[in-house]
Amino acid sequence: MNNNDVLHFCIDEIKRETNTAATFFLKNVNGKALEYKAGQFLTLLVKQGDKIVRRSYSICTTPGIEQNIAITIKRKINGSISRYLLDHLHKGDIISSLAPAGRFLLTTGFSKQRDIFLLAAGSGITPVFSLLKKILTEEPLSHVTLLYSNSNEESIIYKNSLDKLSHEHAKEFQCIHIISDPGNKIPGAITGHLNNQLLGELIFSGLQFDPGKAVFMLCGPTAYMRMAQLTLLFMGFTISQIRKENFVVPEEHPGLYLPLVNNTHPFTLHYNRQIYKLETQPQQTILDAALQQHIQLPYSCKGGVCGTCTANCRQGKIVMSYNEVLTDDDIKSGLILTCTGYILSPDAEITFNKS
Ligand SMILES: Cc1cc2nc3c(=O)[nH]c(=O)nc-3n(C[C@H](O)[C@H](O)[C@H](O)COP(=O)(O)OP(=O)(O)OC[C@H]3O[C@@H](n4cnc5c(N)ncnc54)[C@H](O)[C@@H]3O)c2cc1C
Ligand code: FES
Repeated sequence: MNNNDVLHFCIDEIKRETNTAATFFLKNVNGKALEYKAGQFLTLLVKQGDKIVRRSYSICTTPGIEQNIAITIKRKINGSISRYLLDHLHKGDIISSLAPAGRFLLTTGFSKQRDIFLLAAGSGITPVFSLLKKILTEEPLSHVTLLYSNSNEESIIYKNSLDKLSHEHAKEFQCIHIISDPGNKIPGAITGHLNNQLLGELIFSGLQFDPGKAVFMLCGPTAYMRMAQLTLLFMGFTISQIRKENFVVPEEHPGLYLPLVNNTHPFTLHYNRQIYKLETQPQQTILDAALQQHIQLPYSCKGGVCGTCTANCRQGKIVMSYNEVLTDDDIKSGLILTCTGYILSPDAEITFNKS
């Protein structure tokens, strides 16, 4: 990786959120404000022995509203990097990351009066919290419903801040806690799991404006998001009204489709104001072809889930074996994931934003 592409942050403060999660407030060591969008994430570069391991963490602060930037890390049972970060990072330490990335963004160019449903489970609240603060500041005429699922009261991240926002924006914002612990005693919370019937009821009772303009932002475990998406589609909402952020990179993708690419394919890559003439080998992705030539393109999950590797295909035919990030409109506009993208024609031209 070109060192200019790596950001360095000093840990300014660490705030324990729950028994298993903490928020790390970060200061850019170059003193410049970080440019990012609500809903994006940082990909941390973590040294483990002689290897650098990558893990993405959503930014929970909101640009234009908070001066600080922060990420919240939740300990994954037996997780190698989340446990390491939570146990070893201290105030004053320097951490490195790639530039903010991700496409879990609110659509713009809409009527400023709409329903926005935020569905989060566990640590899935992190990007959703950033979006929530943006909506409450920038869309005072819209209505937001947050459906936030947790196992018990202790595991609710940002509980006090959410209570405060509910109080301050009682007309525009409703926060509904859904707690699976049968002993749940949170006033107003629903005890149980979010299922299709409950979701349908909560949406019908929460809708205030034209359903055709409603937006749904989902972040939680894969099965939770699948249930929510199917329910929404069954209710008549369209796929373009739904946006998902997936934290989990499956070892093996259930829907993995490996295209049969038997030939080498020359292609042109525009990256960092350089033009490279490269070729993919049979069954080789665009990202791997570039990395093999020591061109350090941005990537994180390498599994079609996070969107860090997104590029533009100006020309040529590309097929993606897996894509959890790009919408049909994104693909129509030429966006591709280089980590799961295979070239099928001899004349492909790939560009990155800063090219
Ligand atoms: C877009 C995105 C945003 C995320 N935001 C948050 C957040 O705000 N807070 C939070 O607590 N967690 C977040 N995560 C999850 C986080 O990145 C880690 O997956 C999680 O901390 C577990 O990592 P681990 O090493 O402890 O667990 P492990 O079980 O050791 O590793 C997780 C699994 O994912 C695979 N993997 C490979 N590369 C990556 C990669 N770059 N990122 C993630 N997994 C990878 C690993 O091989 C392993 O199978 C996010 C993930 C994504 C993709
Ligand atoms: S690196 Fe995560 S989608 Fe490509």
